[in-house]
Amino acid sequence: MSERVKNPFKKPSMSGARKRIRTAERILFDMPSSSQRPGAGLNYHIKTFGCQANEADSEAIKGILETLGYRETCNEADADFLLLNTCAVRKSAEDRAFGEIGRLKGLKRTRADMLFAVAGCMPQEENVVETLLQRHPHVDIVFGTHNIHKLPDYIETAIYSRERVLEVYSGEGDIIENMPRKRAFAHKAFVNIIHGCDEFCAYCIVPYTRGRKRSRSEEDILTDIETLKADGVKEVTLLGQNVNAYGRDLEHGARFDTLLESVAKTGIDRVRFMTSHPNDFDERTLEVIAKHRNIMPHIHLPVQSGSTRILKDMNRKYTREDYIALVDSIHRIMPDVSLTSDIIVGYPSESDADFEATLSLVERCKLEGAFTFVYSPREGTPAATREDRVDDAVKKARLRILNEHVNAAYKSGHERFLGKTLDVLVDGVSRKDAAVVSGYTPHHKLVNVEAPAAKAGDIIRVKITEAKTWTL
Ligand code: 5AD
Ligand code: SF4
Repeated sequence: MSERVKNPFKKPSMSGARKRIRTAERILFDMPSSSQRPGAGLNYHIKTFGCQANEADSEAIKGILETLGYRETCNEADADFLLLNTCAVRKSAEDRAFGEIGRLKGLKRTRADMLFAVAGCMPQEENVVETLLQRHPHVDIVFGTHNIHKLPDYIETAIYSRERVLEVYSGEGDIIENMPRKRAFAHKAFVNIIHGCDEFCAYCIVPYTRGRKRSRSEEDILTDIETLKADGVKEVTLLGQNVNAYGRDLEHGARFDTLLESVAKTGIDRVRFMTSHPNDFDERTLEVIAKHRNIMPHIHLPVQSGSTRILKDMNRKYTREDYIALVDSIHRIMPDVSLTSDIIVGYPSESDADFEATLSLVERCKLEGAFTFVYSPREGTPAATREDRVDDAVKKARLRILNEHVNAAYKSGHERFLGKTLDVLVDGVSRKDAAVVSGYTPHHKLVNVEAPAAKAGDIIRVKITEAKTWTL
């Protein structure tokens, strides 16, 4: 056993996550030495739940596992190392992950030599860790969102000490650079620009599970993008919980509009960014988007609710009128843009009138799609203690009505492209028909087209002949 191996056994603290214990440090990933290859000849399998931040983390986890000698298998029963990268944003996601953890107990029984790890946002919650400790002894390794870079040590400890390993950081999230990555696509990539979130929306667990906001340096981000471009990547998506707040936490200050412009100037074919926050979206950013043809004309701008009273309760710090004014200025500068949103129904105390205000906002702002959610109380967040909860049946009914409006919005957002010829970045061949490929337009509309000669990564010209709810 190497000297640096010791069982950390460190649990999370939700109150610790709220405080910033110290300023984030930039740490370079410590590449495992060529002799440190516990995975040589062995397979791994990862299941990823949740958002793009988790997808990006899974790419780093895979990169690390491959440097340790492991190879990916799509069959979980063949895995010598099995990992669930979990999501905590809603209870339904947690229930699904616990379902998987329970189900995998059987596999683990038949494969005593297999290592089973649970990572991601759920281990950042105290109650989850207690449940894992008490009820799921078959989980060998538990770690959170801040310490992926220590996976080589955890694997070594689990193998050699045969003890369960648990380490979760809370307030001390650092920025780890240079982690190896195994990217999901050769032609498109996610690039984190900010880790964590400082907004503390009253319903949301993300600032606790992913920690306070830490912006990566402009230099590190641009180096990543140049490397990706040299590798043949056509599209990058800049990722952050609130990309518009980029750089304000950095010592010398930095701004999202200047970062975005620098990324566009690298000449990469397509630049996307998400998620935008209505409070911090400024005109300078809009002008940069409008000026550069390679910045895609799609803005994901979560509104959450159309009622000013609910927005105030949610701690969103803008009103319905502020959101409408922002959308109007976006449409003035970029009439052709596609706007999408996130919307929550059934937030505590939401009345019929509040809900009607949300429905009317979808129309008023010409939203072309939205991810819609039923409010889910998350332990440790301010909203979870409220007693004025909306009845489950009412929540469900509101979701159904909202979805009808949103689906109509998707369809009309598609219909405006009928008869036009658009650039489509091909993602791959359809599973149903080998002659059909699918990919996205600049406005982030999914296209299916018969193009037997096209392959993933090609940008092809497609004449739009049919507009359905979900596809063109
Ligand atoms: N319940 C329901 N939806 C939530 N979201 C975040 N927290 C919750 C919650 N507790 C939604 C928000 C956010 C998206 C990523 O998830 O709409 O924008
Ligand atoms: Fe959650 Fe609000 Fe941060 Fe988005 S901006 S991650 S909803 S706290």
